[in-house]
Amino acid sequence: MDYKAYIAEHLNVEGLTKEEVADMIALPPNTEMGDYALPCFRLAKVMRKAPQAIAEGLKHAYPVDDVIGEVSAVNGYLNFKVNRRGLASHVLSEIEAQGEKYGSSDEGKGKTVCIDYSSVNIAKPFHIGHLSTTVIGGALYRAYRFFGYNAVGINHLGDYGTQFGKLISAYRHWGNKEEIEAGGIRAINDLYVRFHREAEQNPELEDEARGYFKLIESGDKECNDLFNWFKDLTMKYVEEIYKKLDIRFDSYAGERFYTDKMEPVIEELREKGLLIESQGAQIVDLEAYHMPPCIILRSDGASLYATRDMAAAIYRKQTYDFYKCLYVVAYQQNLHFKQFFKVLELMGKEWAKDLVHVAYGMVSLEEGAMSTRKGNMVFLEDVINRCVEKAYAIIEEKNASLENKEEVANLVGTGAVIFSALYNNKIKDIVFSYDKVLSFEGETSVYVQYTCARANSVLLRAGEIASFEVPELTMEEFELVKALASFKNAVADCLDKYEPCYIARYAVDVAQKFNKFYFDCKILNETGDVRNFRLALTKATLQVLKNAFALLGIGIPERM
Ligand code: ARG
Repeated sequence: MDYKAYIAEHLNVEGLTKEEVADMIALPPNTEMGDYALPCFRLAKVMRKAPQAIAEGLKHAYPVDDVIGEVSAVNGYLNFKVNRRGLASHVLSEIEAQGEKYGSSDEGKGKTVCIDYSSVNIAKPFHIGHLSTTVIGGALYRAYRFFGYNAVGINHLGDYGTQFGKLISAYRHWGNKEEIEAGGIRAINDLYVRFHREAEQNPELEDEARGYFKLIESGDKECNDLFNWFKDLTMKYVEEIYKKLDIRFDSYAGERFYTDKMEPVIEELREKGLLIESQGAQIVDLEAYHMPPCIILRSDGASLYATRDMAAAIYRKQTYDFYKCLYVVAYQQNLHFKQFFKVLELMGKEWAKDLVHVAYGMVSLEEGAMSTRKGNMVFLEDVINRCVEKAYAIIEEKNASLENKEEVANLVGTGAVIFSALYNNKIKDIVFSYDKVLSFEGETSVYVQYTCARANSVLLRAGEIASFEVPELTMEEFELVKALASFKNAVADCLDKYEPCYIARYAVDVAQKFNKFYFDCKILNETGDVRNFRLALTKATLQVLKNAFALLGIGIPERM
């Protein structure tokens, strides 16, 4: 319910449109005064009257009803009180009727949004740096679907480049089949690290690697078999992680997929006079836009990351006719996206404006930085596993008799890792700390999960909820009801700004408001309408928290 618009609709202010009035309506700092207020001193000039006189005049003309139950004129403010019982009854019955669909919308019907996220590199481990793109992309994917969009999840695999030549070279020198089969991605990573160590002493290895890469490109069977083997092993491994994080894709068309789709793009650039030669390379000059040139072909004729991305964007437009195409990629690649978006625009693709780089900051561990080449990296599954172990230890300490401790520890530990990447503004760099993400007191997923377990236990003890008339609301109840009413806004904000933190913060806010209510208002010891209403409010809160967490990809245990 958009109360500001509703109030504006029923107010007649000379010389102002309904939208202007709605924009002027503010939230008073103290809800004892009212839930909304119109500061009339801002009308004094237009209406040539004292603020208090304006407030009184408007008050008499305002038709109170079961949405806005009370209007008062105080100190030049026109204060509105929402009909609390009306709102509560409306919100609770909506949540009850819509269940897991509560908060959803069909505003996206008929629109397709492509979301390029996670986009892992073949033969490289999944490290903590891949966490944000995966969980932010996953949350956006679910939120778009929740709002009726046709979301297409794309894993733009990094399966093209000289690193595969390096791997083949390393494998031929020092690898063997059994070790790789047994060790999987970690064994592959060891080979990769060894290659870089040895190549420092022995630079010819780099030439050899380039040779192998060319062989892959020219279709050499043995090299391609090896490449495909590395790829299968990587995919098996990342799929395990996706399962844990509740992540899915509709397409795995990676960089290699565009091998034969770049030529027409290069041709088009040439035809449109955008391609120029510079030191043997083919580039698009972007000086007029204060950017370095976008390199399309290297002097040896090889394509680049940007060339493949341009072919991919064109392919996606043709295949999905997207309304928007998002790229959830770290801010380190800001320039890359700006450049190729601009080149597409210069080519006359009017849809280039619908390409969005959803940039996010770095995640590091308290322990320090990492690098693939040196091998001191932190694997994401190790972080998840350790978090799950720590969660298990906490449960063991707090509630040793809990039945399914392992399952709960899994939901709590995995949830904490996901939530850590979603709670902050995505562009911020964050430092991951096990103690912080598993704190029961902070603004954490555990806090929300624990609140749900508390609500659940109240409901289990209470048994059936009988029908009731909504009683007068306490302040705590009303604050909670208002929060539950605004779930859809949180999802809308998330999509507007490509920021899942709106949903994460919303969930924490609801949990905090529920806990205030829980500690200040008796539930089970009450009787009649008050008891039933409070139980219904508890049940509704649980539903909304479940819906919010489902969008983030975090499960909620029944008990903790
Ligand atoms: N694989 C790339 C990396 O790890 C990310 C790819 C992002 N998507 C894209 N279309 N460029 O850096």
